[in-house]
Amino acid sequence: MPAIDIRALVHAYADGTQALRGVDLRVDVGEVVAIVGANGAGKSTLLKHLNGLLLAASGSVRIEGIPLTRARLPDVRRRVGYVFQDADDQLFMPTVQDDVAFGPMNLGLAASEVRARVAEALAAVGASHLALRAPYRLSGGEKRAVAIAGVLAMAPSILVLDEPSTGLDPAGRAVRQPERVRGRARRVRPGGRHGGQRDHGGQRDRGGWFGRSRRHYSGQHCHRCD
Ligand SMILES: Nc1ncnc2c1ncn2[C@@H]1O[C@H](COP(=O)(O)OP(=O)(O)O)[C@@H](O)[C@H]1O
Ligand SMILES: [Mg+2]
Repeated sequence: MPAIDIRALVHAYADGTQALRGVDLRVDVGEVVAIVGANGAGKSTLLKHLNGLLLAASGSVRIEGIPLTRARLPDVRRRVGYVFQDADDQLFMPTVQDDVAFGPMNLGLAASEVRARVAEALAAVGASHLALRAPYRLSGGEKRAVAIAGVLAMAPSILVLDEPSTGLDPAGRAVRQPERVRGRARRVRPGGRHGGQRDHGGQRDRGGWFGRSRRHYSGQHCHRCD
């Protein structure tokens, strides 16, 4: 079963902008996929369909086999960690550690487990020293790292990052290289449901150009490329 299975996805915004015109994309468990494309090509619109920030008007999105419908939204959101392009959209608690703890607390985890996840997630992004700082006073790159920690602390099986290197210095980018993120993601989810599957040896990385036609995906599972 693919981790992500998108078929013939169409999205038009309320003002009539046709952002996606029939996108097919399949991502297997363990894969790291980069979607590259011009401004306005539809990358963010596509990503917002992965955790139900937008719901498919036409076509379908399945996450680990679960059809992404309004009714299944909570199931899907537990599986998909979404890091916003702008960290200011994500950080809102008075301290970094409270912010990273917010998600795990809402999962109803014990306080000791929440503390352990916060410590591990902050360590994973090299931000342990920021734990007591106020998020709104951090630099752009620091905010971004903390936003990623907040998502890692939820132990999602799928990590979605919109514009992952924006505003980061070279060292910050290195921390978020796919291999590193994947290794860390595995570490912060020791009890995760899909931990075993992710340890398989056949991991592949791929990238694809998301063209202006908004339905061209040139990765290896592209169907309907024009
Ligand atoms: N809320 C919105 N309302 C109307 N049009 C939008 C909205 N958000 C994005 N768009 C338009 O949809 C298209 C795809 O945008 P987006 O997915 O943000 O592209 P990318 O992330 O690749 O830069 C663009 O033409 C953009 O102007
Ligand atoms: Mg975008």
